[in-house]
Amino acid sequence: MIFLYNLILVLHFVGLASLLGGVIVQAKSSDKGVNPAMLHGALTQLVTGVLLVGIAESGAVDEELNMTKIAVKLVVVLIITVLAFVGRKKPMPQTGMWAAIGALTLLNVVLAVFW
Ligand code: HEM
Repeated sequence: MIFLYNLILVLHFVGLASLLGGVIVQAKSSDKGVNPAMLHGALTQLVTGVLLVGIAESGAVDEELNMTKIAVKLVVVLIITVLAFVGRKKPMPQTGMWAAIGALTLLNVVLAVFW
């Protein structure tokens, strides 16, 4: 089970790369907004994060989770996902939406590492 847990953790990092990469690639564009990499990255973070918690809580791996941190990360990713869903339908530029998604993604990285 530890192999599966680590495999999903790798996908969790792939989702982070997609989400943040989708934000960064537009940094110099005047037409900023939500791109598919951001939306798919957000969904990947949501699904892989929930799977990681499920495996850890089943007791199959020796992983003690900070549930307060997880709950905050879950709320943040839900906001990101809603913003990405709303933003993808809107015409560019969506600079505020782009900046909010980038800032919330960075917030979750900081929470994941420092909390
Ligand atoms: C934008 C959203 C997210 C980002 C950027 C993110 C980022 C990260 C990072 C960088 C790590 C590695 C931390 C370390 O090894 O020190 C991590 C681990 C983890 N994440 Fe996320 N995460 C996100 C969403 C979520 C969600 C929604 C959940 C659960 C509902 C979740 C659950 C976990 C778990 C269980 C781990 C492994 C254990 C731990 O380090 O706490 N993540 N995440």
